[in-house]
Amino acid sequence: MSEKRLPCSEATLLALAAKVTTPFYLYDETSIRAQISAFKASFAWVPAFKNYFAVKACPNPTILKIMLEEGFGADCSSLAELELARRCGFKGEQIMFTSNDTPDEEFSLAYAMGAVMNLDDITHLDCIEKVAAVPELISFRYNPGPSRTGNAIIGNPVEAKYGVTTDQLVRCYELAKKKGAKRFALHTMVASNELDGSYIVETARMLFGQAIRIFKETGIKIEFINMGGGIGIPYRPDQSAMDLDAVSSEMKHLYESMIVPAGLAPLNIVFECGRMVTGPYGYVVSKVRHVVEKYKRYVGLDACMANLMRPALYGAYHHISVLGKSTLPPDQVYDVTGSLCENNDKFAIDRKLPRLEKGDVVILHDAGAHGYAMGFNYNGKLRSAEYLLCVDGSVKMIRRAETIDDYFSTMLFDPLHRLPKV
Ligand SMILES: Cc1ncc(COP(=O)(O)O)c(C=O)c1O
Repeated sequence: MSEKRLPCSEATLLALAAKVTTPFYLYDETSIRAQISAFKASFAWVPAFKNYFAVKACPNPTILKIMLEEGFGADCSSLAELELARRCGFKGEQIMFTSNDTPDEEFSLAYAMGAVMNLDDITHLDCIEKVAAVPELISFRYNPGPSRTGNAIIGNPVEAKYGVTTDQLVRCYELAKKKGAKRFALHTMVASNELDGSYIVETARMLFGQAIRIFKETGIKIEFINMGGGIGIPYRPDQSAMDLDAVSSEMKHLYESMIVPAGLAPLNIVFECGRMVTGPYGYVVSKVRHVVEKYKRYVGLDACMANLMRPALYGAYHHISVLGKSTLPPDQVYDVTGSLCENNDKFAIDRKLPRLEKGDVVILHDAGAHGYAMGFNYNGKLRSAEYLLCVDGSVKMIRRAETIDDYFSTMLFDPLHRLPKV
């Protein structure tokens, strides 16, 4: 079970919602920092434990600077994310570059920044060589294929476009070494939003096993394994958070029984989690715009799936609280919608809530990762502002809302340039 808590009192949230334009995102700095500390404490036995925060989960400079202050790295997947990490102050091996179908210019920038290159394919060694050089430290993303099962968000590993196969893995390291690499790492990402700790332990067992195999077949010592992201969060109140201490202690046992006897210690362990770091500590604050009765009863919010698309994309559950009505019985059944012209623009279907009225302030929980970041402009919808509830209780804007001018900024009403005839 997980309690769905608000980041501050209902009165403070109501005052905030009265003061600034809704919808908006609100992140709880105190809880994010506490979660980072708990993550580090769970893996304190790992000599240089690090989580490379997945920038894609919450690409906001203020949030990323918190990660940096707390000793986390940044996991980037694109040119924009590399540049964002650089502007936030991440340097060199504080950055992991885990990309796929990668353009040359991204390899080039990642190399220039000294980021850890985590390659998705053996052919990418030639690509880096062409635009720069094979770096001293190289990592490969491993896809175990039929030996593991994935889950709904990430899909079955056999069907996944990511990573090198079991047969290709050893050749990747041999070729990298031949091309000048001197330090090596091994990465995987086989599940997303996974709440079962044994899945993470099995992933460690799998990576330890592959590190041993690589050592036996090539003499190459893996410096660190990257367990990827994918640790889930309890979106539903009847779910429980993963017991990280238990996962860590089972991983320690595996380390001692597999890595130490194989002569591979010290082998560092890192993650690139986003969701479990910020997910539960981000909220969409929205107001009820209309309550209407059709064949079903609908509550239309001023937020829509352009602000939070997880429910529409994955059928994901996001808990909903109604400020000032927590003592009322949840005896009404509503579909909670936005204003997008898509029938799946629904935050909840047949959700039991207290009776709602125009102007009620509604909180969508667990929106702190893969929330704002997935926003889009379809239907001319604009992305909202983001705010941080700081440790001292003050609130600061950490991203302004998009304006209609932002929306028009790339449009050419009087195109001047014609391309040469082809
Ligand atoms: C390669 C990679 N690493 C890390 C993450 C972060 O995953 P999560 O936020 O679920 O921890 C993702 C998410 O899509 C990913 O694709």
